[in-house]
Amino acid sequence: MIGKLNHVAIAVPDLEAAAARYRDALGARVSQAQALPEHGVKVVFVELDNTKVELLEPLGADSPIAAFLERNAAGGMHHLCYEVDDIIAARDRLMAGGCRVLGDGEPKIGAHGNPVLFLHPKDFCGTLVELEQVGDAGGE
Ligand code: CO
Repeated sequence: MIGKLNHVAIAVPDLEAAAARYRDALGARVSQAQALPEHGVKVVFVELDNTKVELLEPLGADSPIAAFLERNAAGGMHHLCYEVDDIIAARDRLMAGGCRVLGDGEPKIGAHGNPVLFLHPKDFCGTLVELEQVGDAGGE
């Protein structure tokens, strides 16, 4: 059901420092920082040949990554995002199998303009999983 690894997201306390580390120490291509107030994060995309790394810094008072950074002061891997063709079919299959979908279970528009859902980390080996619908299945 899942396809490509779309991105690995890393929560960081200092986005500029993290972007500089990826750019200067690892020689990676990094984007300009973008504020995504509707998601409560500021993000830098690290573009790799086969996938992306997203560096996330909290934005605003109730950022969804604030509590994570309280527990992981130096930053840490926050979630993995896998691509699916049909997010509703994926959700229904997962829920039928007893997996928990976070929030109200309805897809939201993610950082790349595509529908996304998050799955409970306790159902996936302790890792928060994001599903992102890519391609034209179910799209407009
Ligand atoms: Co993500």
